Amino acid sequence: MSKHVVTLLPGDGIGPEVVAVTVRAIDALDVDITWEEGLIGESAMPVHGTTLPPEVLDSIRRNGCALKGPTTTPVGGGHVSVNVGLRRALSLFANFRPIRNIPGVDARYENVDLFVVRENTEGLYRGIEHVIVPGVVESLKVITAEASTRISRFAFEFARNRQRRKVTAVHKANIMKLSDGLFLDCSRAIAKEYPEIEYEELIVDNMCMQLVMDPTRFDVLLSENLYGDILSDLCAGLVGGLGFAPGANHGEKVGLYEPVHGSAPDIAGKNLANPIASVLSGVMMLRHLKEHDAADRLKEAVFRHLAKAQVRTRDMGGTATTTDVGDSIVREIESAPVGT
Ligand code: NAI
Repeated sequence: MSKHVVTLLPGDGIGPEVVAVTVRAIDALDVDITWEEGLIGESAMPVHGTTLPPEVLDSIRRNGCALKGPTTTPVGGGHVSVNVGLRRALSLFANFRPIRNIPGVDARYENVDLFVVRENTEGLYRGIEHVIVPGVVESLKVITAEASTRISRFAFEFARNRQRRKVTAVHKANIMKLSDGLFLDCSRAIAKEYPEIEYEELIVDNMCMQLVMDPTRFDVLLSENLYGDILSDLCAGLVGGLGFAPGANHGEKVGLYEPVHGSAPDIAGKNLANPIASVLSGVMMLRHLKEHDAADRLKEAVFRHLAKAQVRTRDMGGTATTTDVGDSIVREIESAPVGT
């Protein structure tokens, strides 16, 4: 029996392409992992008649760990988001996205080193909407003290464990006085338990402006669901784009690892996607599995690959394919003896 069994969810669009590179790279590290593959998203519909088959949820619960590609969610009508379904069904309450400059990647800013911690289970993402009368729609934002306290504690615990200096809570409590007000009340209460960590609050619109003016003044960003979603893409843009932003979803018992980006229908099936964000999500997954040596080796292989500057996908101004990048990363893994 393998040391680790990981649920593998390639997803839709570019998902299978970037996840294939990630799996190849991890397999080249000789970590003892069995992949238990499942279908989710549009790809699952023809086979299972649903975008989120119950057996996939069972597999993730059993294994406690999943590697996921993005899934497509239609705009307007159509099926509900698989991501929202997964995060709620598995209580993956914390969405966690490191945003850092990567050596060899051109970015608008240097010295960016921040973390977006996003509440993952409520807010407007609950998708509770109804038509009151034709032409009038109501959409409900749900904020609870329990979930706000839980995500605040997650952010401060992370900050303490990693010796980070500051947590910035992002809100719009000037307008949403009750819902975002409650979120802030909970973050303030938790902040008091961590006196060594500076705590500040910024209104989300100001936050966006401050981030594009000087992202280096931020450290850990704590946010409810929707602002965290928007800030994540903004932050990815600070360090080179969506091709470089990995992510994790954490619950009490489960870790699910996926890049920030979506299924990119505009380039899907063309072998053009940048797989780095997915591979770096794989690095985070290996740390969750306590395979720290393998995680370091994979990260260093990605960095060496990027430093060589020959094999670059289109988003980096190159002409390489997704599989070319995979080949290059695997070459870097195989050319570095274990233990170096
Ligand atoms: P997107 O992230 O898929 O694409 C935005 C832009 O970035 C596109 O021009 C795309 O080509 C580019 N891009 C994204 N990832 C890239 C990569 N790895 N390499 C090179 N270029 C990349 O966002 P969009 O277009 O808003 O959403 C497309 C679909 O993805 C939607 O159905 C959306 O709901 C879904 N989505 C799923 C997510 C998930 O499963 N975690 C996250 C975000 C969106």
